[in-house]
Amino acid sequence: MIETERLRLREYTPDDFDALYEIVSDPETMAHYPAPFDEARTRRWIDWNLENYAQYGFGLWAVVLKETGAFIGDCGITLQNIDGKTLPEIGYHIHKQYWRRGFAKEAARAVRDWAFLNTKYNALYSYMKYTNEGSWRTALANGMKKVKEYPDPKNMISWAFAITREEWIRAVLSFRKLTDFDRGIMYGILKDAYSFDERCARCWDGNWRETDDFFFDHPRIAERYGFVTCFHGEPIGFISWDPRNRPEYVEIGHNAIITAYKGNGFGKAQLAEALRRVREYEGLKEIRVRTNSNLIAPKNYERVGFVLYDRKENRGEAAFSGDDLYYRIQLSEKE
Ligand SMILES: CC(C)(COP(=O)(O)OP(=O)(O)OC[C@H]1O[C@@H](n2cnc3c(N)ncnc32)[C@H](O)[C@@H]1OP(=O)(O)O)[C@@H](O)C(=O)NCCC(=O)NCCS
Repeated sequence: MIETERLRLREYTPDDFDALYEIVSDPETMAHYPAPFDEARTRRWIDWNLENYAQYGFGLWAVVLKETGAFIGDCGITLQNIDGKTLPEIGYHIHKQYWRRGFAKEAARAVRDWAFLNTKYNALYSYMKYTNEGSWRTALANGMKKVKEYPDPKNMISWAFAITREEWIRAVLSFRKLTDFDRGIMYGILKDAYSFDERCARCWDGNWRETDDFFFDHPRIAERYGFVTCFHGEPIGFISWDPRNRPEYVEIGHNAIITAYKGNGFGKAQLAEALRRVREYEGLKEIRVRTNSNLIAPKNYERVGFVLYDRKENRGEAAFSGDDLYYRIQLSEKE
């Protein structure tokens, strides 16, 4: 279900009992737990995860080596009581034979990405007994920070680590020059991002091609006035702006996130990065953008501070996309 370079994470089955029991009955592995698990406790562990899958759509998943198919542990998300609050927690247990080879890190990162992409949680946690250095180092390697230290009857002292959605976005997104990619990339992103309504491509396909060609024919412009947003290095979005009316205004041009990555806060981060760059133009008075009332985009612009200043009925071929909306952010008082 989740794949990484070396691992596959899949749901537990009752057949995993023997392999799991070998891990969790081991006193060294369970040194930071109140006690190693007996058989009944181990069975309950599997049952609890099966219930979690059914109830929440996640739980601890079995971690399997892709190369050999060996079960080497588990990693996933469960709801845990962390200092009195029920919070989504990333947990991990790896067979000691496989320790210190980066498997917990690799699994935990994939689980973190899965959780932010597939749930609405705005923060994820890991907690452990303060002595469990392998566990807290795994949390740190997962981009988490220590957020709490508190008395906990089962651990004496527990440490809690967390990563917010914003921190995760900063860690996984990068912004790259269009010219690092091949001609057609921008066209591909736009086509995908607008695939929710086939009328978009019917109206704008030619414009998308032309814009893509324009940037690749003018690499200096492409490098300065737009960028490609990447998720773990894979291109997922694009934004550009037209600087020709500086210092009166700069107008945001194409701005899109591909369908599979919408709804995760990436569009907002992409826009924020573009605004950060545009605001660096000295003496700039306004940032403008034109969009359409039937698209989701107006919400994104409003959320980062754009204010509607004009609205025109759209009678053209693209009338289905709604009225033309004119938004702006005023950077300095106009005379
Ligand atoms: C915690 C555990 C899952 C780590 O698994 P692992 O596959 O060995 O971890 P990784 O190799 O991915 O290492 C992750 C980080 O922890 C560090 N680390 C792992 N074991 C460590 C140890 N015993 N002492 C110090 N650091 C350790 C690694 O160096 C790495 O940190 P780095 O990025 O700074 O180099 C494993 O030790 C385990 O299963 N322990 C028993 C179960 C448990 O306690 N789970 C956590 C419950 S809260």
